[in-house]
Amino acid sequence: MKKSARIFSGEILFRHFLILQSKIPDMSHSTPCVKRDGFTSSFGVLAATLGSAVGLGNIWKFPYMTGANGGAGFLLVYLLATLLIALPVMMAEIAIGREAKANPITALQRLAPRGFPWWVIGACGMVAAFLIMSFYSEVVAWVFAYILKAVEGSILSNDPQVTGSAFNQLIQDPLQSLLWQWLVLIFIGGILLLGVAKGIEAVTKKLMPLLFLLLLILCAVSLSLDKASEGIRFLFQPDFSKIDASVVLMAMGLAFFKLSIGMGTMMTYGSYFRDQQNIPTTTLRVMTADLFVSMLAGIAIFPAVFTFGFEPAAGPSLVFITIPAVFAQIPMGHLLMVLFFVLTAVAATGAMLSLLEVPVAIIHERFGISRRKATLISLLVLAMAGSTCALTNSSMANVKLFGLTMFDLFDYLSSNILLPLGGILICLFVGWSWGAQRLQQALSNRGQLHNQRMIHVLFFLLRYISPLLILIVMLKGLGLF
Ligand code: TRP
Repeated sequence: MKKSARIFSGEILFRHFLILQSKIPDMSHSTPCVKRDGFTSSFGVLAATLGSAVGLGNIWKFPYMTGANGGAGFLLVYLLATLLIALPVMMAEIAIGREAKANPITALQRLAPRGFPWWVIGACGMVAAFLIMSFYSEVVAWVFAYILKAVEGSILSNDPQVTGSAFNQLIQDPLQSLLWQWLVLIFIGGILLLGVAKGIEAVTKKLMPLLFLLLLILCAVSLSLDKASEGIRFLFQPDFSKIDASVVLMAMGLAFFKLSIGMGTMMTYGSYFRDQQNIPTTTLRVMTADLFVSMLAGIAIFPAVFTFGFEPAAGPSLVFITIPAVFAQIPMGHLLMVLFFVLTAVAATGAMLSLLEVPVAIIHERFGISRRKATLISLLVLAMAGSTCALTNSSMANVKLFGLTMFDLFDYLSSNILLPLGGILICLFVGWSWGAQRLQQALSNRGQLHNQRMIHVLFFLLRYISPLLILIVMLKGLGLF
């Protein structure tokens, strides 16, 4: 009792100190007693954060990249990249969010001393969120459309030519592409309107168990097929000869995208974390569970792909062309195909929620407008930016900038520039401005957790190692060496 009172009065003092220091608007009087929305249970925190990490990346990026780049060898490199870069940045982001209890822009204004405008991390994050969502939502739109097609059975053909032309028909139809994308946006926006606890937390708490259940069913079926072992070999057989500099850099980029870091998503979710939540163990669990989902997805996909003699591929052609052709040849394939696309939609929903929450939180808190209006504004901006990606295979196929379609340009700008830049700035902020002591306070829950040594290592990584490694990834991504 006494302890919490002490922390509480300390917090008030700290806040007043910050208000005096940085002239941030003092809203504590205008909105008394209005409790900020946030996650309400430990499982809820885990479900929402895992929901953000798990996404399309697990299904079409991770398994293929692992198989094509040396199997178990690639996994090892990925693990190293995660431990040295992704996990430290993820913990730092969540800690920043929880300390400041605010959206990414306000959070950095609150925590940073005057001088360097660290809040640009939040601003870049908002731009990155819109860019990523613009193309991501279009792929999710195809997934939603495919649930319907799978139910109807119209894509149930064992000929990849047929499944391929069905896919092209969908993506080359401007009206269908736009309508499905708007449907996805309305669906995600609708969940966000319910709030953080009643929307994001409640939904991801239901979706994450469902995700594992569907994955396990599909894995069991795939493993029971004839040439299952060939698929497993493709995924896991270590081949260290394939690992070169570019594979290492690819693994680092993947670790970033997978764990949703570098753009304020984890900062925003961190601001909803409960004070007693153990941040380091939560991030470790999320990372492990996310890896597990990726491997299960690989086990669900590749044994089946090899059994029917298809070439493993990455991206849309794997999910929308090869997989329907594979399911057409499996007993109960019709039902299983519906389950597969529902699974993909489930995975993508949690990721989309976390992406859209970034601008919603920023607009809601910075401009003092209701969450409902903030959501509508974000959706409108997104519908406009996103339509350029939805039409990228039809009316806007010839609209190119730097030789890239809008879809590819947004992907390039976010993955190769904004995410790594955000990551580097977060490391530099924590390592050189915020400092070891505050990080220690935040990650040890004010000394209640005994994890000092781990935090020392973490701080060293954030100060020296991670930013340097990310810089290398970024320069390589930009083709500068
Ligand atoms: N991690 C998600 C995936 O694997 C994508 C994602 C959600 C994301 N939020 C993000 C990527 C923020 C980068 C930044 O599909």
